[in-house]
Parts: sequence; C-alpha cells; structure tokens
Amino acid sequence: MKTTLYYFSATGNSLKVTRDLAGVLGNTKVVSIPKHIGKSIDVKTDAVGLIFPVYMWGPPLIIARFIKKMKVRKDTYVFAIVTYGGLSAGTLPILSKLFQKKGIRLKAGFTMLMPGNYTPFYNAMPKWLQKFMFNRELKRIKRIANIVRKRKRHRLEQTFFLISWILSGLLHGKKALQIPVMDKGFWVDENCNSCRICEKVCPVKNIRMKNKRPSWLHHCEQCLACLHWCPKKAIQWEKRTKKRRRYHHPKVKLSDLY
Ligand SMILES: Cc1cc2nc3c(=O)[nH]c(=O)nc-3n(C[C@H](O)[C@H](O)[C@H](O)COP(=O)(O)O)c2cc1C
Ligand code: SF4
Ligand code: SF4
Repeated sequence: MKTTLYYFSATGNSLKVTRDLAGVLGNTKVVSIPKHIGKSIDVKTDAVGLIFPVYMWGPPLIIARFIKKMKVRKDTYVFAIVTYGGLSAGTLPILSKLFQKKGIRLKAGFTMLMPGNYTPFYNAMPKWLQKFMFNRELKRIKRIANIVRKRKRHRLEQTFFLISWILSGLLHGKKALQIPVMDKGFWVDENCNSCRICEKVCPVKNIRMKNKRPSWLHHCEQCLACLHWCPKKAIQWEKRTKKRRRYHHPKVKLSDLY
C-alpha cells in the first residue's frame, strides 16, 4: 500500500472525495477517523492524507484528537483536503499548526467546494447546483491526484488572508469551545418512530435512546449526521430547521457511515 487516506464525514461529501481520490491514485487504503479515534495511529505508507469538512472556519474537534495520536515518519508525504460549503477560511493553516506540534510537516493542502450541510444557517442547495459542484469535484480530484502522485509541495489553499485571519484566527477558537454543548439545541418532534438510526450514525456516540427518543450527551461534534440521516426528518435544531431540506451526498449511503 502506497497511500493511506483517513477521512471524517457526516453527510458524505468528504467520503466521496476520499473514494474518488483513492480510485484515481490506486494502491490506497481508506480508513475512517471515528472508527480509530483513541487508538494509536502508526502510519506506515509513503503518503498519508486527511480528508474532512470545515467546521466554523477550522478543523472539527475530532481531527485535533486524531492528530495527537498519529505517528508519522519524517520522510512521509503528508497532505490534506478539506471540503467546505462557502468559506474554508484558514482551516488548512490551523491544521498545519496542529501537525507542527507533533513535528509533522503538512506538505500540501487543498480545499474542495461541496454542497453545504449546515442546516441551522441555510437550506440544502438545489439539485442542479449540487450536480455542478459534483462535476467540478471530479475534475479537481484528477489535478490533486497528479500532485499527490508526484509527492509535490503545494501551498495550503485558503480564503483571502484578511478574511481567514478574522474567521479562523479570531472566531474559530471561540466557536470551537462551544461545539461540544451545542447539542443542547437539538430536539425531536412527533415524527420520531424510535428507529435508532441517529444513535447508530453518530460518529462519537453522543446519542443514547431514552424512553424511545434520542437524548444528546454533550460531547457533540455538531456534524449534523443525526439531523440529516433521520428518515423521518424528526431531529430539529432550535427553531431553524423544521422547514429546511435535509442533505446527503447522493452517492453515499447511510450504511457507508456506520
Ligand atoms: C458544524 C458545521 C460547521 C460548518 N462550518 C463551515 C464553515 O465554516 N465554512 C464552510 O464553508 N462550510 C462549513 N460547513 C459546511 C461543511 O464544511 C460542508 O458541507 C462539508 O462538505 C460537509 O462534509 P461531509 O458531507 O463530509 O460531512 C459546516 C458544517 C457544519 C456541520
Ligand atoms: S433517527 Fe429519527 S426517527 Fe429514528 S430514532 Fe432518531 S429521531 Fe427518531
Ligand atoms: S449528536 Fe448528532 S451532531 Fe452531534 S456528533 Fe452525533 S451525529 Fe453529530
């Protein structure tokens, strides 16, 4: 095996990007980050990539925990792809600092615009726009694969410096502190049929069924997998999501994320 791709994905965008890249590169192992969290990660391949979504202009909390456990040889080619719905800001420079603390150098960082899934702020995109983004993704993957295959250095892609500095430098840290308890905003409406899918799909086991209804345990990633994959659209966040469409990548199935 030449490359390992570690991914985190709630609604499938980052998983689709991971699979597409693995398909173009060949000889690649694909590994779920939540399934390996807490374990020691000893990277033995020549190249390793992290692929995950942008959360509040930075990496999800689970990524920082994962990097702490990573062991990477000095000559390993380390790269990352972040999927995002509007502004990736300075997510990749933040990631680079997390790696630096472990003495690891992030050699290339790419951003990939995909349909946004943050339903508390906006509705799911119309299908025609999603399709446009999916076609663009396939083209970009070929370019990224070319750079990765040659083990080339590539700048850490980010939004215009001043915007990145404000959103990622000033706001991300404060927002990230609130994330674990943001699940206090979730509630479940009368359409819940107690199927337990939300409990199963949660990547960090933050949902337990109580009296046949989900209850949230306050170590949330705010990934929204529970909200988007509930077959009855019964999970809501505050008053904002009742009328909004749910989203998941059409090529990714619920069972791919368990
Ligand atoms: C908690 C949360 C915060 C988000 N913050 C951002 C953000 O700061 N910038 C952005 O462009 N997209 C943001 N998004 C959108 C996701 O990054 C984007 O839809 C991503 O492709 C989802 O990946 P997934 O399908 O692999 O889970 C956010 C989504 C969530 C759930
Ligand atoms: S996935 Fe939806 S319907 Fe199923 S138990 Fe959870 S909230 Fe209820
Ligand atoms: S409770 Fe929902 S939003 Fe929080 S980590 Fe689990 S699936 Fe994601």
